[in-house]
Amino acid sequence: MKTQRVLTGITTSGTPHLGNYVGAIRPTVRASRLASVESFYFLADYHALIKVTEPARVQRSTLEIAATWLACGLDPEQVTFYRQSDIPEIPELTWLLTCVAGKGMLNRAHAYKASVDKNTAAGTDPDAGVSAGLFMYPVLMAADILMFNAHQVPVGRDQVQHIEMARDIAASFNHLYGEHFTLPEAAIEDHVATLPGLDGRKMSKSYDNTIPLFVPREQLRKLIQGIVTDSRAPGEPKDTTGSALFQLYQAFGSAKETAAFAQAYADGIAWGDAKQQLFERLDQEIAPMREVYDQLIQDPAQIERMLHRGAEKARGVATPFTARLRHAVGLRPLDSATAPARPAKVAKSASPSVKQYREADGRFYFKLVDGSGQTLLQSLGFDSPREAAHAVCRLREQGAAALPALKLQLATSASPETLETALAAWANLV
Ligand code: TRP
Repeated sequence: MKTQRVLTGITTSGTPHLGNYVGAIRPTVRASRLASVESFYFLADYHALIKVTEPARVQRSTLEIAATWLACGLDPEQVTFYRQSDIPEIPELTWLLTCVAGKGMLNRAHAYKASVDKNTAAGTDPDAGVSAGLFMYPVLMAADILMFNAHQVPVGRDQVQHIEMARDIAASFNHLYGEHFTLPEAAIEDHVATLPGLDGRKMSKSYDNTIPLFVPREQLRKLIQGIVTDSRAPGEPKDTTGSALFQLYQAFGSAKETAAFAQAYADGIAWGDAKQQLFERLDQEIAPMREVYDQLIQDPAQIERMLHRGAEKARGVATPFTARLRHAVGLRPLDSATAPARPAKVAKSASPSVKQYREADGRFYFKLVDGSGQTLLQSLGFDSPREAAHAVCRLREQGAAALPALKLQLATSASPETLETALAAWANLV
C-alpha cells in the first residue's frame, strides 16, 4: 500500500548537470520505485519566471529537465509527472495561502534577505531590483506542496527553510479553516555527496564549473580532462582526500571500484590515466540514458503528451481539493447553505493530537489531548492564529523543552512523564 506521499520539483531555469543528477535526480528516481511511496514530480516553470526573463530559455530548460527525468528512468505510469503551469489550481491556492502567510515571515526568507542585505551594503534602497515574485517564492512553493498534501519533500539544504514556511502557512490555514493540509517535512539526502565541479568548488551554475549531464561523449571526455588536479608527476603517489576527480569517481563507482581507484592513486597513477578511467566509468552509466535523452529531445511532442497525461492525473487531485478549499474559506455559490461545511472527518485514532480552536473571547487556543480525549495540556489565549500555530510548531519541534517559554498550563491530571510520552508520540505523527 502507498502510505507516504513524496513530492519534489525542479525549477526550469538551466541545464541539468552531474551535481543535479547525483544530488537530486538519481535518488528521487530510485525512491519513486519504492512500492510504499506515491510520488509527485514536477517542472517548476512558474518558479523559473522569478529568475529568468528569457522566454526561450524557460522553454528549453523545461524540455531538457523533462527529458532528463524520463531518460534517468522516471516512469510516468508509476508517478505523477507534470508541469506546474499546467495546473491552474496552483496559482489559485497560492492566493488563498498568501492571505494567511505572515509578511514578517516572508521578510525573513534567506533568498529575499540576501538581496536586501546586498542592497543595504551597497547603500541602495533595500528592495531595489527585488520583484514581488522573489518575495512570494515561498508561498508559491507552499502551494505546490500543500496542494497534494505531501508528507515528504526531498530537497537540498538551501530549501529547508521553504518547507518550514510551508508548514507554518499550512498550520495557520488549518487553524482558521479546519484540518485541510498535511504538514510537510523536508527529506534531506544526507548520504549523497555534494559533487565538486571542474575547479574543485561545489558544482554549481553560479560558479560556472558544471559538467552538463548529457553532453556528447567526446565533449564529456574533454570536460573531464579539464578538472583541476595538483602537479604530482606520474609514479608519485596521489592523495584521494580533496581530489575532485576522486570524489566524482566515488559518486559513480561501486565500493569495490572506488577502492581499486584509491589503490591506483596510492600506486601513483598519472593524472591523464585517472581522468580517462573516470571518464569511462561516468560514461558507462550515462551512455544508455544519453541515448534515450537525445531521442526524447528530438521529439518534444511525445514529452508534451506525457505531461498532459500527468497534468490530468494531478488535476484529478487538485480540482476537487481546490473546490473544497474554496468552500472552506467562503468562496461559495450564493445559493448554497451558509452553515460551515465540516471537513471530512478523519478516522478517530487512539493517538494523542492537538486541537486548535477559537473561544468566545475571540482569542486562539490549542490543547493536547490523549487518545481517549482527555486534555493533557491547555494553552492560554493567543491574539492571532499565527501565534498559536507558532507555539504548536515549537512544541512539535522541541517537545517538553518548549513548555517554559510557551504560554501553557499543565492539565492537573497529567504527570510530566505522561506528557512527554504523549508529546513525542504526537510529534512523530504529524
Ligand atoms: N524551489 C525549488 C528549487 O529551486 C524547486 C521547487 C519549487 C520545489 N516548488 C517546489 C521543490 C516544491 C520541492 C517542492 O530547488
